[in-house]
Amino acid sequence: MGRLNFLSVLCCLCLNLCVVAVDTIRSSQSIKDKDNDYIISNGGVFKMGFFSPVNSTNRYLGIWYNNISAFTVVWVAKRQKPLKDSSGVLTTSEDGNLVVLNGQKEILWSSNVNNSVANSSAQLLDSGNLVLKENTIGTILWESFKIPSHTSLPEMEISTNERTGEKVQLTSWKSPSDPSIGSFTAGIYRQSLTQSFIWKDGRPYFRSGPWNGQMFIGIPVYPVFHDRFGLVDNQDGTSYLTASTVKDSLSHYVLTTQGNTEARYWDSVKEDWEVVWKAMVSVCDVYGTCGAFGSCNSMSSLICSCLEGFEPNNTEEWNRQNWTSGCVRRTPLQCGRVNTSGEAGKMDGFLKLKMMKVPDFVEWSAAQEDDCRQQCLQNCSCIAYAFDSGTGCMTWTRTLIDTQKFSNGRGVDLYIRVAHSELDTNGDVRKIVTITVIIGTIFISIFTYLLWRWIAKHKARRKKEKEMLMFNREAHKKFPSEDMLGDNLNPGKVQELPLFDFVKLASATNNFHESNKLGQGGFGPVYRGKLSDVQEIAIKRLSKTSGQGLEEFMNEVVVISKLQHRNLVRLLGCCVEREERMLIYEYMPNKSLDAFLFDSRKEILLDWRKRFNIIEGIGRGLLYLHRDSRLRIIHRDLKTSNILLDKDLNPKISDFGMARIFRSNEDQANTNRVVGTYGYMSPEYAMEGRFSEKSDVFSFGVLLLEIVSGRKNSSFYHDEESMSLLGHLSTFKKSIFHQPHLKISFGIEKIFASSPAQAKAKGSLTLGLHCCKSRM
Ligand SMILES: *[C@@H]1O[C@H](CO)[C@@H](O)[C@H](O)[C@H]1NC(C)=O
Ligand SMILES: *[C@@H]1O[C@H](CO)[C@@H](O)[C@H](O)[C@H]1NC(C)=O
Ligand SMILES: *[C@@H]1O[C@H](CO)[C@@H](O)[C@H](O)[C@H]1NC(C)=O
Ligand SMILES: *[C@@H]1O[C@H](CO)[C@@H](O)[C@H](O)[C@H]1NC(C)=O
Ligand SMILES: *[C@@H]1O[C@H](CO)[C@@H](O)[C@H](O)[C@H]1NC(C)=O
Ligand SMILES: *[C@@H]1O[C@H](CO)[C@@H](O)[C@H](O)[C@H]1NC(C)=O
Ligand SMILES: *[C@@H]1O[C@H](CO)[C@@H](O)[C@H](O)[C@H]1NC(C)=O
Ligand SMILES: *[C@@H]1O[C@H](CO)[C@@H](O)[C@H](O)[C@H]1NC(C)=O
Repeated sequence: MGRLNFLSVLCCLCLNLCVVAVDTIRSSQSIKDKDNDYIISNGGVFKMGFFSPVNSTNRYLGIWYNNISAFTVVWVAKRQKPLKDSSGVLTTSEDGNLVVLNGQKEILWSSNVNNSVANSSAQLLDSGNLVLKENTIGTILWESFKIPSHTSLPEMEISTNERTGEKVQLTSWKSPSDPSIGSFTAGIYRQSLTQSFIWKDGRPYFRSGPWNGQMFIGIPVYPVFHDRFGLVDNQDGTSYLTASTVKDSLSHYVLTTQGNTEARYWDSVKEDWEVVWKAMVSVCDVYGTCGAFGSCNSMSSLICSCLEGFEPNNTEEWNRQNWTSGCVRRTPLQCGRVNTSGEAGKMDGFLKLKMMKVPDFVEWSAAQEDDCRQQCLQNCSCIAYAFDSGTGCMTWTRTLIDTQKFSNGRGVDLYIRVAHSELDTNGDVRKIVTITVIIGTIFISIFTYLLWRWIAKHKARRKKEKEMLMFNREAHKKFPSEDMLGDNLNPGKVQELPLFDFVKLASATNNFHESNKLGQGGFGPVYRGKLSDVQEIAIKRLSKTSGQGLEEFMNEVVVISKLQHRNLVRLLGCCVEREERMLIYEYMPNKSLDAFLFDSRKEILLDWRKRFNIIEGIGRGLLYLHRDSRLRIIHRDLKTSNILLDKDLNPKISDFGMARIFRSNEDQANTNRVVGTYGYMSPEYAMEGRFSEKSDVFSFGVLLLEIVSGRKNSSFYHDEESMSLLGHLSTFKKSIFHQPHLKISFGIEKIFASSPAQAKAKGSLTLGLHCCKSRM
């Protein structure tokens, strides 16, 4: 008894379970519009029953997801005529059709299958498909996937049959609370090539472009998942698009009330739908935004532009950003025109546009890439072509519409047929050529200039070297025996003297302006120059006409370039360029001694100590020339104007134009050409041409007297009693030298025997006046 009870309870439980989990409506069974009356697919994914959309009281028969928190309807049976009350019943009719009846038993909706079978049943599958089957052999009479609503579930096929005109496509709801037919439909359209479309009120609203085997080539952004996403074109004129998405997740494509197709999957963590892809992302994706022969670029500030070779049909409208009338061809094609006499028609050509969404009304041919171009060129009705390895050869003969410029590497190269003249004025080519020419010209000019500079510099250097060489040769002639000069004067060494640029010197002296002239030297003017803000120089410029000066110039270079003493003026360099011969010295701000000594205003600046310093300095310089330097040099023109004073009034001997170098064993020499300044010349030199160290010492003596007395040796010329300072000295010794203890002794060296301090203490000067002795 107990066992029977148990069995019956078990059976009852089982029966209850079966009733609750039912997925099938058999004949004579029905679903009423009331709570807990629905069928659920075997795996529990979908549920079917009566529902009301949000914000609506209308009742509809539909299928929705069973096991998620968001109420999401994927299919609606009778969209146009809702039930106003909850009297609706779903059942199988006697002829085997699935029907919805209202309270008055009127058929509101039917699956409308012709083959009348008495025994049929409807089953809701886990794919979301509701299938009406004939019971005995199981043939499918009808399925909900053939009349989809706005949602495409993973196993659904969007299809078209060219021959029968049958289509399976999505239609949008009017609004989220109204499932009735909206403005938008989405499906595929098979022409020469199959494309998918969204239509708005029957007109194209979005176009995917042709299929290339993996993708539609005109979609700006690819879906992130396209597992089992594919298009199949069958020979019998049917095409199928399967649009499954991520596995192991609830997902679908939905055509929204705004007309966009979205791919969504259920995010079980967020408990909401995640949109992962949209067919349309910009206004450029709206079909024909820019009109005929226009091209849309969403990255551009003005999204529309005419294709190259085309211009706005209505410029005024176009400028107002009303793109509807599109663009027209600028230059008529040669192809197809009747050739008029004389007009040698030039062949049309193709302009290449990169990364394009190809236009609508595409025609396909089996040609390969090269043939594709040729084919299009030969057929006058062909106005554009494109080749994609997946799609093949595409050509266009009608208006080019719905073209888009992509920027993310999508799209294909589109070739547009234009007249030959358009090709010639092709901006790109011309620009490239122009830019190339300009850059090339600039480059060549710069290169030529640099080369020229280099050659000029090289030449100048060569010339300078040559001149220097000649100059050295002359120096050699002047000092023929090298052993006399020792290795100190070999020609190579002279070259070590820095060479100055004539141009640089000219600019340093303001082109040898009069205002920069410091004075007139023995063989040419001396200029003051500024090499930089800090370095000042004195430039002795040899007069071009002076043949004599050249010899002296070279002499000076040879002599002074070997000498270094702080009481000799320093030669910084020379300039031997063209006809110019110049010597560059350090600049002496206080000019020469005579300017100080014989100027009554400046004279007072020279107190005894300064005068002594000057005498000592000249003496040291002379000693160096005669004894301490590696050469023995007789200056031969020592005088106040050749003693320069630096800013501290230190004396520097200058002007070595007449200097002579003596061999170490040579004590005196004779010359036929007596040079120097009368008044400073020793009598034996002036009269007999004999000169030696003593000649310089005589001059030094005169200099000394001038410094001490402050009077020029020649200032006595008009004096009747004497011819010169020296003559005067012998007569009026006492009247000139007021210092009673002035002693005159022999030898320059003796000057340095007593220190200046000692001399000052004694209030006397101890001087060597070898020359004066010989005279007095
Ligand atoms: C229903 O969802 C819950 C959690 O979302 C899950 O644990 C359960 O397995 C689901 N049931 C079915 C039949 O999918
Ligand atoms: C439903 O109505 C409420 C209030 O009128 C509104 O806030 C909400 O957005 C509506 N929902 C939908 C899906 O239309
Ligand atoms: C169903 O039958 C009707 C007439 O009985 C016929 O006109 C119609 O073409 C049939 N439909 C189909 C799909 O066979
Ligand atoms: C319908 O078919 C099922 C089995 O497929 C059978 O059990 C049932 O009796 C049939 N009903 C009618 C009315 O023929
Ligand atoms: C140019 O515009 C006119 C009207 O503005 C229109 O009739 C014509 O078809 C347009 N041409 C093209 C090529 O679109
Ligand atoms: C754009 O121009 C067309 C005529 O070509 C006109 O019908 C349409 O109203 C204009 N649109 C706007 C927004 O002005
Ligand atoms: C016009 O001339 C070109 C070249 O001379 C030729 O290729 C083309 O076929 C001609 N067109 C017609 C219509 O005769
Ligand atoms: C040119 O192309 C059109 C359209 O594709 C086609 O109808 C026509 O036969 C072609 N003409 C030739 C000569 O190939």
